[in-house]
Amino acid sequence: MRFHLTKIAIALSAVTIGTAALADAPAVPKKSSYKVGFAQTESNNPWRLAESKSFQDIAAKCNWQVISTDAGGSAAKQVADIDSLIAQKVDLLVFPPREDKPLVPAVMKAKKAGIPVILVDRDVDHALAKPTQDYITFIGSDFVDQGRRAAQALAKAMGSKGTIIELEGSTGASAATDRKKGFDAEIAKYPGMKIVASQSGDFNRDKGRQLAQTLMQAHPDANAIYAHNDEMAIGAITAIEAAGKKAGKDIMLVSIDGQRNALEAIVAGKLIATVQSSPYFGPAACKVAQASANGEKIPAWVKVEDKIYDITNAAKDMDEGF
Ligand code: AHR
Repeated sequence: MRFHLTKIAIALSAVTIGTAALADAPAVPKKSSYKVGFAQTESNNPWRLAESKSFQDIAAKCNWQVISTDAGGSAAKQVADIDSLIAQKVDLLVFPPREDKPLVPAVMKAKKAGIPVILVDRDVDHALAKPTQDYITFIGSDFVDQGRRAAQALAKAMGSKGTIIELEGSTGASAATDRKKGFDAEIAKYPGMKIVASQSGDFNRDKGRQLAQTLMQAHPDANAIYAHNDEMAIGAITAIEAAGKKAGKDIMLVSIDGQRNALEAIVAGKLIATVQSSPYFGPAACKVAQASANGEKIPAWVKVEDKIYDITNAAKDMDEGF
């Protein structure tokens, strides 16, 4: 059977040495129903809530009994949560690793216990744990490309001239590392654009607001903000308005996710664009698990294809926002 995942394209084929695939990650067993552990990183924003809901929504269809945990924004707590799910002998573990190194021992412990793992949304450091070899696969977006597309949208809106403040996501999260990599490399192609400050706002709305306030005071010449997610962009808009400035005029903003508040901000002229980053991993994880149980070869990366929202489609596509 071939893989057909809506909006998802298979990007890479499984790592191979000679003719033998390094497919030694535990596979999903063939059963009529499954106990599935879903270890969430935190639940303090619409993106995370939508992601968790997509697993609850798929549960009955996929014959999954989902046991969910919430790490409250702590990588250490997420590791402990996964330990507990392993102790409960779940049939399958699915989780977004909050940070790319601290969650590696959890992947390895599951592997040792013979429990299959599917990583969604964020990945772990491939120098320490490898898809197909240590875990089945990574299902997620191309974060480098998201950053690159955000930079292109900003450059286009600003006539290739701008002084930019960057609000980074959680330190050590693959989403933050790669969104920075893609954006910074693209901006470097424009001689008239420079990034004057770049610090972590932890993907959090209020931390993003506070950071934007501090960095705008330190860099009064800044006329653009790139936020690694919509929550921080919305926080930054609050900071801009509190400073008596106009978002979308005095300070241009671009971000990533596609949450409803951000689409509304685009329609209101406050945000140039947001690159979509879908949180709906439940259906894709279900298909991957079924394929694994059927003995199919799973690629190392099941890539999610993202669109971009701007003034041309934000109103029309408002209901896609979460
Ligand atoms: O890993 C994906 C990021 O995590 C989303 O962009 C963000 O909103 C979330 O917290």
